[in-house]
Amino acid sequence: MAEQIARKEYDLSPLKNANLPMIWVLGGPGSGKGTQCDLIVKKYGYTHLSSGDLLRAEVASGSERGKQLNAIMEKGELVSLDVVMDLLKEAILANLPTSKGFLIDGYPRDICQGEIFEKEIVPCTVILFFNASDETMKERLLSRGKSSGRVDDNEETIMKRLKTFHDLSAPVVEHYKDKCKTFCAEQPPEQVFCGVSQCLDALQQQACA
Ligand code: AP5
Repeated sequence: MAEQIARKEYDLSPLKNANLPMIWVLGGPGSGKGTQCDLIVKKYGYTHLSSGDLLRAEVASGSERGKQLNAIMEKGELVSLDVVMDLLKEAILANLPTSKGFLIDGYPRDICQGEIFEKEIVPCTVILFFNASDETMKERLLSRGKSSGRVDDNEETIMKRLKTFHDLSAPVVEHYKDKCKTFCAEQPPEQVFCGVSQCLDALQQQACA
């Protein structure tokens, strides 16, 4: 049986009072979530938190918690919700004093993750969903895998990540359709970003109105 990972307590009230934009960034593996987040950070100055990066940093730290994560990610499966939530809460609170708003990249991976986030942290303001074909995503990840060093950028794990995405993560988009903005992610990054900019400009105007 899997060993229990220790939980911590967090005081989220400063975040609730700050009333900052909380933007979830969704899409299949290799759809370009991270790439678009980099462009968004440059233009809008939001704080980019990637659940995958937080998990990889935890693995790299050699902590007890990190030691239990690598094998799950290598299989292309989802890490337990408790772990991801704790990492996100820690990172959100650490960045809160200087943040203009948060981009939560790669979260939620299933409907339950979304519901728990909104209950325990704050409601999501808008969801950016990057839609690309499996062929495109696989090709991009195989290409990145030549130099990324990521344990999951190999053909076998990519196929499992795609299956996990279709089975668990894609239904999130339908569930949250009222908050979701979908972008075709087949174009070059700058072209995809044009649509994203229009959406975020409108969000900022609403906030100022
Ligand atoms: P995570 O790190 O989130 O990986 P992923 O979702 O599989 O996505 P990637 O980061 O690989 O791709 P991306 O969409 O960000 O694309 P990118 O911009 O990098 O998760 C890894 C694992 O961690 C999961 O499998 C799971 O085990 C675990 N995990 C993570 N979050 C979890 C959660 N919430 N709950 C439980 N477990 C969780 O681009 C990819 C490549 O394509 C790059 O080379 C880029 O240059 C290129 N590219 C990007 N956009 C374009 C474009 N428009 N045109 C051409 N090339 C492009």
